[in-house]
Amino acid sequence: MKKIEIKNLVVSVEGEKILNGINLTVNNNEIHALMGPNGNGKSTLLATIMGHPSYTVEDGDILIDGVSVLEMSVDERSRLGIFYAMQSPVEIPGVLNLDFLKSIINAHRDEPIKLPELYSQINTNVKNLKIDDSMIRRYLNNGFSGGEKKKNEILQLNLLKPDLALIDEIDSGLDVDALSVVSEEINKRINDNFAAIIVSHYDRFFNLVQPTHAHVIIKGKIVKSGDNQLVERINKEGYEWLLAELNLTAPVAKKQQPIIGGIGCAANKGNNGNNK
Ligand SMILES: Nc1ncnc2c1ncn2[C@@H]1O[C@H](COP(=O)(O)OP(=O)(O)OP(=O)(O)O)[C@@H](O)[C@H]1O
Ligand SMILES: [Mg+2]
Repeated sequence: MKKIEIKNLVVSVEGEKILNGINLTVNNNEIHALMGPNGNGKSTLLATIMGHPSYTVEDGDILIDGVSVLEMSVDERSRLGIFYAMQSPVEIPGVLNLDFLKSIINAHRDEPIKLPELYSQINTNVKNLKIDDSMIRRYLNNGFSGGEKKKNEILQLNLLKPDLALIDEIDSGLDVDALSVVSEEINKRINDNFAAIIVSHYDRFFNLVQPTHAHVIIKGKIVKSGDNQLVERINKEGYEWLLAELNLTAPVAKKQQPIIGGIGCAANKGNNGNNK
């Protein structure tokens, strides 16, 4: 994969528009930081690129090396080289992690992987990621701690070696040591055939995995692009300056239904629920 182009992407969830015309091009070797206040469409963008069925593309296109992926299923996109490390990995009781890992590897190969090779790859990752190997024999994410779930996502990334990794708040829930282990593993992937879109709220992570580009999504649109300096400024000053620059009043993507009068009205006025 040489390039992904997202063109005027409009996406809705349950009839409500969440993305309002995203334009973004990511070339091989580029690491794009994606920031933005909560609930403004970052995960929606990544999930839509991966082909999550809850997200309806209303307009625009997603092109990989010039070919639209919109009609492709999630597994077809995965075989093309896209990988999504989820913000909240799903617990699947009944599916052994080991079986799941074997299945995702085999879905990318013509011949099934031989067990010694599978174990060798997994053992290398267990060691590098500093995870307890009992995690491999447990049900997928079932009862895993927050940090263990995130490390299991990076384990999958390492096994699949995608060309384009969509990495969604991998740093949330990781302790300081785990954060450096995980960022080291991501940095190992940075070579000739790797690009990534990485969502994080903090420059702490982007100091460890250095982005080549940075973008801010507000109300389902990329409203500002730049480089690591943009990340640093947001970390220091938050989003107020940007909202003022854009003449926006509140970083809220959708109107919320009133639950009880005061709270609902406050949410609709976009004051972040601060009623005082
Ligand atoms: N499957 C869904 N069903 C209903 N609403 C959804 C769904 N997915 C996203 N949304 C809504 O779309 C909006 C954007 O959500 P999204 O998860 O993309 O935000 P985000 O920018 O990733 O936020 P955060 O920083 O909190 O992770 C939110 O208001 C969210 O509630
Ligand atoms: Mg999110």
